[in-house]
Amino acid sequence: MCGAGSRARIGYAQILPEVRMKAPIRVAVTGAAGNIGYSLLWRLASGNCFGDDQPMILQLLEITPVMERLNGVVMELVDSAFPLVHDIVATDDVNTAFRDADAIFLVGSRPRSKDMDRADLVAANGPIFVGQGKAIGESASRDVKVITVGNPANTNCLIARANATGLDGSCFSAMTRLDQNRAVGQVAAKLGVPAAQVQDVFVWGNHSDKMYPDLRKAVASELPAMGQLDLAWVREEFRRTVATRGKAIIMARGASSAASAASAAVDHMRDWWKGTNGRIVSMAIPSQGWYDVPEGLVFSFPVTVDASGTISVVEGLEIDAYTRDRIVENIQDLESERSAVAELI
Ligand code: NAD
Ligand code: LMR
Repeated sequence: MCGAGSRARIGYAQILPEVRMKAPIRVAVTGAAGNIGYSLLWRLASGNCFGDDQPMILQLLEITPVMERLNGVVMELVDSAFPLVHDIVATDDVNTAFRDADAIFLVGSRPRSKDMDRADLVAANGPIFVGQGKAIGESASRDVKVITVGNPANTNCLIARANATGLDGSCFSAMTRLDQNRAVGQVAAKLGVPAAQVQDVFVWGNHSDKMYPDLRKAVASELPAMGQLDLAWVREEFRRTVATRGKAIIMARGASSAASAASAAVDHMRDWWKGTNGRIVSMAIPSQGWYDVPEGLVFSFPVTVDASGTISVVEGLEIDAYTRDRIVENIQDLESERSAVAELI
């Protein structure tokens, strides 16, 4: 007579034979007991990001005073009995969290309050990314994929990358996918079509209110989106709504966006992990001088990702005077953030 455990193992092997074939990857999440973490971990564990055939070991980092809360999150993860989760490490030690990590979500940091801009967080959050960057350089897999979510995301990514000795800049990115998704949501609502009908929307620059959501290549219901939209709406209301959406959510909810941020982080990492199959998406990555963006600035570009995980900036897009002005505005914004953290990089 089999016990319950044996029956569960037989069922598992029959239903998910491929799960047993892939080696587990190591996925680190910082700020794992925070609001974004509480949404993100369940999406990762369900297979939404790395695939429903990819087991994982979750490596969760929190600051020491928050370890008991993290313990509660771990209890709930265990209680969710995810077939893909092979182990969970909960720690307040950065090197333990990043040890051999294949993917890292840098979320842990303070969110802004109603009276702040994202850049105001640089003094509070910037130093976090010095130690975490060093630990990534020391402990993570040599081809780790790092997404920076904590604000100001582009500049925190710049700090982490600068401190991660021995790792290539191509391991680092910051999230502007939430801005892209917001832009898609606004266009879909304006045209009265499902979001899936809106493609090739991307965002240039900084995850700040200077960001430039670009619709020039966008397609809605298989037709050019710009042909269906009023230029004044695109340049004014649309751009302002997308760029200030984070603040609008804080004012309405009393807390910074969390579920949509987690969802965007999953979209970003899934596209990096599996490729975009030709779709254009937005990722903030260390510039190599593309579109005259100074080398090293972590700048959101239109990119595609191939099946091996190599990110390529979409080159050769027409840069009209309006677009050039928006790019320059974002360069200046990011250069000013970089000056503010000069002692951390
Ligand atoms: P939260 O306050 O709910 O959670 C943050 C967690 O990080 C807390 O549990 C805290 O203890 C932990 N933390 C703080 N310092 C840490 C450290 N050094 N190491 C590990 N953990 C640490 O905040 P949240 O709502 O989850 O937001 C997290 C960050 O993400 C904020 O900076 C927020 O502004 C940013 N954010 C970015 C985007 C984006 O699009 N890039 C979107 C939404 C939120
Ligand atoms: C967002 O865009 O929702 C986040 O970056 C939170 C914020 O401070 O705006």
